[in-house]
Amino acid sequence: MKSLAIIGAQWGDEGKGKISDYFGQKADLVVRFQGGNNAGHTIIVGDVKTILHVIPSGVLHKNCLSIIGHGVVFDPEAFLVELEEVRAATEITGDNLKISLGAAVITSYHKIIDGIREEGSGTKIGTTKKGIGPCYEDKISRRGIKIKDLFDLENLEARLEEQIMEKKFLFDNLYKCEYPSCKEEAKKLFELGKILKPFVADTFGLIDDAVKAGRKILFEGAQGVLLDIDYGSYPFVTSSNTSSGGVYTGAGLPGKQLDESVGIVKAYTTRVGTGPFPTEQLNDMGELIQTKGHEFGATTGRRRRCGWLDLPLLKYSAKVSNLTSLAVTKLDILSGLDELKVCVGYEYEGEIYETAFPGLDLEKVKPVYRDMTPFNDTFENGELSTELGEYIDIIEEFVGVPVGILAYGPERSQISFRKEYF
Ligand code: GDP
Ligand code: IMO
Ligand code: MG
Repeated sequence: MKSLAIIGAQWGDEGKGKISDYFGQKADLVVRFQGGNNAGHTIIVGDVKTILHVIPSGVLHKNCLSIIGHGVVFDPEAFLVELEEVRAATEITGDNLKISLGAAVITSYHKIIDGIREEGSGTKIGTTKKGIGPCYEDKISRRGIKIKDLFDLENLEARLEEQIMEKKFLFDNLYKCEYPSCKEEAKKLFELGKILKPFVADTFGLIDDAVKAGRKILFEGAQGVLLDIDYGSYPFVTSSNTSSGGVYTGAGLPGKQLDESVGIVKAYTTRVGTGPFPTEQLNDMGELIQTKGHEFGATTGRRRRCGWLDLPLLKYSAKVSNLTSLAVTKLDILSGLDELKVCVGYEYEGEIYETAFPGLDLEKVKPVYRDMTPFNDTFENGELSTELGEYIDIIEEFVGVPVGILAYGPERSQISFRKEYF
């Protein structure tokens, strides 16, 4: 097995950082292919906690090359702040971290728009306000700035003029806000570009070479399938392809298919921001899981909404991302609860559905629950109780994908394997 993708199978924050970190110990390359610093991936090794936003988890491993692919939206200012923070835990240079020349740049204008929209009167997505959506909008509408544009001041200013032409009208007349001139913004980005230069490369070529040399490549997904712009709970989604398809467009795996796509699944469900959440528990159980699981966003600090595991959504994610195995995390948080349920279907317009599908109105579905026997496992001797075994069995049977990994604590070592990976 040479190429393995970590894919969030729910609404993000499933524990991708922890699982990526584990595989990163063996990988030659760790590649981010979509999203940006809206992600917050937590890695805990001993007493040291690191939260990564746009920097791939591979930086924590010696002899591993980390790559920020062309499908990522990249904020140079936020990157430099993160770089300083993460450098306290590990060495990062232009030798072990490369950023694609083709990645789209998040400008001040994108951050202003994201912030104002969240405070305005329209639909509130509950974004991370990092400028992610507006940056992808400009990329798609061909008004984006790419990393390669940062090194020629004159061209950069011209590109920014193009980007801001229509936005000026919004800033002046609708938002009535302050914003930097193109000259100021170009100067700032040009100076940041000089600092970034040692990190910048043709990452597509590096991945191609690594594939040809038979190296082990880990693709570190951000967010989750249900936040995918095409497959997720639109409009309450992020603006990239978070499913495994994003690997092919946002990083490149020339002429190859992923050998393994591991879906990361929290043993229950959480969501930050607004949008439908069929199994949400707006009651004492939801509160208990939130508190016990320390469910606060790693990027924004917001409380995460909590609910039971939703198997129809998981079955859908598995189809969408062609998941070949699952990693179930945070089992320790469910252990010891006196009640345990899983959603095994949706009642919708008089029919029962076992799997979600694009366009299904999740606001209108009524979850059908199965009561499970609660488990109380300490995870000390590697044996699963019969009750926990039943919980894992129902996931495997319902979704039709084997559970290869169990995680039962935040620390790197709190993990067990039921299958061999790379
Ligand atoms: P990501 O965005 O998918 O990488 O997940 P986050 O880092 O945003 O959130 C997952 C949280 O759960 C982090 O605080 C992790 O340290 C923690 N975590 C991961 N796996 C486990 C686990 O098996 N048990 C417990 N208790 N915490 C876990
Ligand atoms: P990781 O990689 C959880 C959510 C936001 C909001 C929606 C759109 O840590 O799992 P955006 O800023 O992307 O335009 O916000 O997506 N969101 C996440 N939720 N985990 C994430 O990343 C997220 N990244 C974005 O809360 O609902
Ligand atoms: Mg997170």
